[in-house]
Amino acid sequence: MTEAPHEPVMTDEVLAWLNPQPGGTFVDCTGGFGGHTEAIRVRMSGTGQIITIDCDPTAYEYCIKRFEAYKNIVQCYNSNFVKISEVLRKAEVTSADGVLVDCGVSSAQIDNAERGFSFRANGPLDMRMNPGSGRTALSAIRELSETDLANVIFEYGEERKSRRIARAVKDAWRNGEIRDTASLAEIVKRSLPRGYEHGRIHPATRTFQALRIWVNDELAVLDKLLTDAVSLLKPQGRLVAISFHSLEDRIVKRAFKKFESAEMGCILTKKPLLPTDDEVERNPRSRSAKLRAFERREP
Ligand SMILES: C[S@@+](CC[C@H](N)C(=O)[O-])C[C@H]1O[C@@H](n2cnc3c(N)ncnc32)[C@H](O)[C@@H]1O
Repeated sequence: MTEAPHEPVMTDEVLAWLNPQPGGTFVDCTGGFGGHTEAIRVRMSGTGQIITIDCDPTAYEYCIKRFEAYKNIVQCYNSNFVKISEVLRKAEVTSADGVLVDCGVSSAQIDNAERGFSFRANGPLDMRMNPGSGRTALSAIRELSETDLANVIFEYGEERKSRRIARAVKDAWRNGEIRDTASLAEIVKRSLPRGYEHGRIHPATRTFQALRIWVNDELAVLDKLLTDAVSLLKPQGRLVAISFHSLEDRIVKRAFKKFESAEMGCILTKKPLLPTDDEVERNPRSRSAKLRAFERREP
């Protein structure tokens, strides 16, 4: 087995808040390359059950191989986590002691130019977590009106210059200038005033985030997952969510508050936990991670 192409983030914190115990039932909604699943498995001392879900066939295939020797404990499903209830029905699981969601894309997805998530490695305008189905980043550019594209860039990218970016992108599209992630990044950069972002992040970062969220409908599926997951928890069962940007974190925070108001349980993390300085130094991609945890109470 080759080394996993993704370093799991905040693993110690995941274990501390998910609190897996031998014999328990856990769901890893974003299996990726199995880093968190493996940590949970080891903590459960070779007993219990872990349902590991990922919509990306490459991640799924990797997990199947990685957990081949433990397939009586780890069951892998190639599915969108929005279908968690359906997956658990197939696995004949009715409730769980813990559910984990580690949002966003894996390093393997970002680093593979062919997947189109990155403007640093040039590739097709794709950005689908599951490349087998659904709309692509190119669909957004081709099919959305200039106004709708601007709204997507504003809402999902929190980009103040969304209107001028959308105008430049649609013009460039009509002129045949947008072919791949590099040309899109260049058009976005050219549409913005010099010095915008002051060199902190690439000027196309927010636009790329917006398109990725739109392509995968990320905010809506996360919101639905949290609602479904909390109702699948056993009493004292825990829901742990790791987010990577403010829009995701807001959804988690609001959902947990809503569950608490409905007296479904309590928020365990009043403030989100962040990775330690050591972890950020070792794995810079962990730097924007925020972890929140919720515990279900007796119904
Ligand atoms: C940050 S990575 C998770 C890494 C994983 N925890 C590990 O240790 O390797 C996020 C993973 O979630 C998957 N993913 C994102 N959205 C998903 C969804 N709606 N349903 C299922 N999987 C999803 C991605 O394909 C990616 O593999």
